[in-house]
Amino acid sequence: EVQQFEESKIGVNGITTIPRFFIHPPDALSAIRRSKLNTKPDPDIIPIIDFSGADSEQLRPTIVEKIPRAPREIGFFQVGNHGIGADVLERVIGAVKGFQELPPAVKAQFYDYLRDRSRGVSFSNVDIFHSTAASWRDTLVMRRGPTLPELDEFPEIRRREALEWSQHGKQLGELLMGLLCEGLGLATGRMKEMTFIDGRMMIGNYYPYCPQPDLTVGIPFHTDPGALAILLQDHHGGLQCKCGDDWVDVKPVPGALVVDIGDVFQILSNDEYKSMDHRALANSSREARVSAVVFFAPSDRDRFPCPTRQFAMPNRLLGPFPELISPEKPARFRQFTRADYINRFYTKQLD
Ligand code: SIN
Ligand code: FE2
Repeated sequence: EVQQFEESKIGVNGITTIPRFFIHPPDALSAIRRSKLNTKPDPDIIPIIDFSGADSEQLRPTIVEKIPRAPREIGFFQVGNHGIGADVLERVIGAVKGFQELPPAVKAQFYDYLRDRSRGVSFSNVDIFHSTAASWRDTLVMRRGPTLPELDEFPEIRRREALEWSQHGKQLGELLMGLLCEGLGLATGRMKEMTFIDGRMMIGNYYPYCPQPDLTVGIPFHTDPGALAILLQDHHGGLQCKCGDDWVDVKPVPGALVVDIGDVFQILSNDEYKSMDHRALANSSREARVSAVVFFAPSDRDRFPCPTRQFAMPNRLLGPFPELISPEKPARFRQFTRADYINRFYTKQLD
C-alpha cells in the first residue's frame, strides 16, 4: 500500500501535473467531464457483426443485411471473425508500442526520414498546428498507395508488422467496402474503382499515462476525412463516439476491429451512411494505450507527387454517386476535389 501510494504521488515517469500546453479550453473540458456520467453501456448502439462466411457467396447476403443500420445511424460498428488472426493483431499493437517506447536517442535516428513527407511517413501529434491545445498522445503515420513508396522502402524497424497490417487491412477494407456498397444497392466494386483501397494510410497511436486526464484529451473530437477506417485498439478503452448528446464508449472487444465511416463515404453515399464525431479520452491507466488504424482515402496525388508512377484518376471530382441521386433524393453535397476538401477540413472551413 505504501508503495502504491508513493507511486500515485509521484506518478509514472515522475509526472504529476500536465504542462499548460496540453490543457484544453473550459468548454471542451466540461464536455469531457459530463460524458463520464452519461456514457451509455448499451451494447446494441455499436453492434458487433460476425463476419464468418463473408467470403462465401451463400452467406454474404446475410452479412449485408446485418450491416446497414449501424453505418446509417451511428457510423460505427465492430467486426468479429474477420479473418485476421489474433497473433497478427497482437504483433501490430506490440510494434506500435515497441517503436514508441524506444529510447529517444534511438528514435531520433528516424526523425529525418519520418519528417520527409514525400516518403510517405511522418511522426507527430498530428493536429498540433490547428488545435488550441496539444493532445496527450503521439502518432506515427505511414502512407501507402500507387503514388507512394512501397513499404520495402520504409525504415527496417517494425517493417514486417507494418507490412502484415497493411496487407490484411487492404483485404478487409476491400471486403467491407464491397459489402457496404451492396448495402446501398451499388455494384460491389464501386468504391474500389475510386482507388480507395490503394490510397491507404496507417496510423499508430500511443497514449501514455496521463496524471490529469480530465484536463486534456487523447484525440479531440473529429470526424475522419477519408472514406473508411479500420481500427484496432488494445484492452484499455478510451475511444468514444457521439450518439445524440451523449458520448458512447466504443468498448474494446478482444479480437474485434472497429469500423468507422468517414466523411468521403457519407458524401459519396449521398448522406445514407454517416460520418460521426468521435474522440479518444486521455489515458488514465498506468500502462500506455495503443491503437492502430488503416484509413482508406483517394490517393493524394496533389500532396505527394511521385514522377515515376502513374495515377489512376488525378484531380478527379468527388461527389455523391449518380446512382444514389434521384428526384426524391437530390444530391446533398456538391462536387469537390480531394485537395480542396483536405484544406477545408484542416482549417475547419467545411460547409
Ligand atoms: C482516431 O480517431 O483516429 C483514433 C482513435 C483511437 O485511437 O481510439
Ligand atoms: Fe478518427
